[in-house]
Amino acid sequence: MKFDNMADMPIGIFDSGVGGLTVLKEIHARLPAESTIYMGDTARVPYGIRSAETVIKYSLENSAFLVEKGIKLLIIACNTASAVSLDIIRAAFKIPVMGVIEPGARAAAMATKNGRVGVIGTEATIKSGAYGRTIRKIAPGIVVIESSCPLFVPLVEEGWLDDEVVELVARRYLTEMKRTNIDTLVLGCTHYPLLKRVIKKVMGDGVVLIDSAIEKAKNVTDILTSSGLLKAAGTPVFRKYYVTDCPDRFQEIGKRFMLDSLEDITRIEIASLEEKAIALKNKQCNGGV
Ligand code: DGL
Repeated sequence: MKFDNMADMPIGIFDSGVGGLTVLKEIHARLPAESTIYMGDTARVPYGIRSAETVIKYSLENSAFLVEKGIKLLIIACNTASAVSLDIIRAAFKIPVMGVIEPGARAAAMATKNGRVGVIGTEATIKSGAYGRTIRKIAPGIVVIESSCPLFVPLVEEGWLDDEVVELVARRYLTEMKRTNIDTLVLGCTHYPLLKRVIKKVMGDGVVLIDSAIEKAKNVTDILTSSGLLKAAGTPVFRKYYVTDCPDRFQEIGKRFMLDSLEDITRIEIASLEEKAIALKNKQCNGGV
């Protein structure tokens, strides 16, 4: 696609699957004039149980795919991919690249009154220590307690958001966390905002929940405004989706995240993603992208 004006270009967003739609939904709500291209790597989800090396490889491939489409800003909606690959992706591309860790960490540092913050996420996110590092960098005195909740992702994908099974699992994961006397808890995974009600019930009213999807969307507005890249209201808008596996399933599960219809979904082959990443490497050797 060709655009006369950089501000008219779409925002590119990728996630390991449907979860990043929580971020996209907030972006659509706050920035309705922006066009977006969302890429969900549904054939290779979940990233949260994989090694950092594998997540970096997938993230570079997804980014190369979106950059080639012509985007003005790249958002890594996946917490796991943000935690392990943000710096590498930033170094690989010339356009601005944003992850979800920093906005969530900043909001948590601002919200805590007793200086004790909990973070929950996938195994890979928690193992990376990215949230703890970022929160402590923003406010060195804060104590950060991090814990993974691996069953939350499949429960959400199954559409179990509110019943007694979810509550049982949440109690099992969060009882220890509750004892640590935190007053703020970062929902450090794309899927967890959908479990907010249960998590709130288990943690109690005294604990503020930080939704990294909302924090991210606020941040996108600020970046586009300050860099003069906000698209003008009233100009044509498109919303396009690419997935690496069956579009039907993406559409069905995606509705839980977007509460909206998902149209214009195209399936892409993993092999073509790998080719794009190789082409990107070659381009970089010849002067960058
Ligand atoms: N999108 C992932 C995240 O936010 C959750 C799903 C996965 O493990 O890929 O960490």
